[in-house]
Amino acid sequence: MPSEIITLQLGQCGNQIGMEFWKQLCAEHGISPEGKLESYATEGSDRKDVFFYQADDEHYIPRSVLLDLEPRVIDGIMKSAYKHLYNPENVYLSKDGGGAGNNWAQGYHQGEKLSEEIFDIIDREADNGDSLEGFVLCHSIAGGTGSGMGSYILEKLNDRFPKKLIQTYSVFPMTDEVADVVVQPYNSVLTLKRLTQNADCTVVLDNTALNRIATERLKMKTPTLAELNQLVSTIMSGSTSTLRYPGYMNNDLISLISSLIPTPRLHFLISAYTPLTADKVESTVRKTTVLDVMRRLLQPKNVMVSTSSRDRNINHCYVSILNIIQGEVDASEVHKSLMRIRERKWANFIPWGPASIQVALSKKSPYIQTTHRVSGLMLANHTSISTLFDRMVEHYDKLIKREAFVENFRRLPMFRENLDEFTESREIVQQLMDEYNAATKADYVTWGQTQQAASNMKPGGD
Ligand code: GTP
Repeated sequence: MPSEIITLQLGQCGNQIGMEFWKQLCAEHGISPEGKLESYATEGSDRKDVFFYQADDEHYIPRSVLLDLEPRVIDGIMKSAYKHLYNPENVYLSKDGGGAGNNWAQGYHQGEKLSEEIFDIIDREADNGDSLEGFVLCHSIAGGTGSGMGSYILEKLNDRFPKKLIQTYSVFPMTDEVADVVVQPYNSVLTLKRLTQNADCTVVLDNTALNRIATERLKMKTPTLAELNQLVSTIMSGSTSTLRYPGYMNNDLISLISSLIPTPRLHFLISAYTPLTADKVESTVRKTTVLDVMRRLLQPKNVMVSTSSRDRNINHCYVSILNIIQGEVDASEVHKSLMRIRERKWANFIPWGPASIQVALSKKSPYIQTTHRVSGLMLANHTSISTLFDRMVEHYDKLIKREAFVENFRRLPMFRENLDEFTESREIVQQLMDEYNAATKADYVTWGQTQQAASNMKPGGD
């Protein structure tokens, strides 16, 4: 059974969220920061081999590759208590160390230039396992390295490993306030093209929503990136829990993805988790029955993506929902809760597919104490994700109209002759939004066939 997963961490954000993910995985599987099994870790029903392998001396090593164009974050990891966890051969820092200057084109160009060295590491890691199932890429879409080099790597992974799955955890920038990177709409649109065409599944983590949850739900005044990353690692570890603690369902990535993604392009997932706790702040959730957990997971205020229903012509709805429930739960409690949710019509589904919430019961780590009887993670495909893309292209359109800040892009090969790559990426994002909007209607399937026929008639269409 293929099962091993290689994690690729790129740029500042990718490495920071990746680090939190490994900390959480080590804690859940009873592995020390040096990779040794803790003396108390005596239960053997988990599957550590999906994300770790064992060295000759039996210590656990993450199947991960750390890549960056500037040293600060990786140097920090290498000075932390986890410095001996990673395989040092899988840590790649560009020699010039200057970063990508928040420029997608620079990140992409560096990816091309360093391709051989980077893919030597990835190929070696892939050959290291018996049954590789796929890759997980952690990155932000707004800077230069995670977005640009991440885009290059996504394209190349697709060519090189056509049969392997590619999942991404993609951090979307804050859009409500002044952007922390002026060209972030450019970087985001260019990356979104690659996420659409080269990834099988993207879990969208939106900094605007993470901030809102941290301030409103967890009562943090000004949440730091480290605090936001705790939320991210909760989502990442929760969404991989059925792979690591196998039960009856969703024991591999393919079954997880295929249960949520009915057509190839509609693969952008939102997530929610409850009950949330922060290091110092205990959230106010007190009663945790399965019904409570499922109800809270459906509340927009708990969702880690801020979408809106501002378009009154479109009735946005769920394409699919998977709830991963952890804790002491029996099947009849789950069944009753699902009936109740259906009776009360708490979730509005697409008219062309099954209108049901899928539930996976997953074991909890025996090594982490919680005060909550039940906790739940929702992964869902919701058509309102198009409103997040819409906000992004709105900013993009304003900038590109004036050709603002394009000089730094023009200096790099892809943009030297013209800005066609921008136009093409914008078109692909538009098609993606159109498809999500079409999915809200009953005739989505015929819409898809018409689109396919039209694209076959275009020169170069297949
Ligand atoms: P360069 O700095 O250009 O080399 O690229 P990079 O990929 O390293 O950039 P970075 O990852 O810093 O991307 C910038 C975007 O990521 C901004 O929107 C930041 O708010 C966001 N970001 C950076 N670090 C983190 C993090 O640790 N957590 C979260 N949630 N967001 C982050």
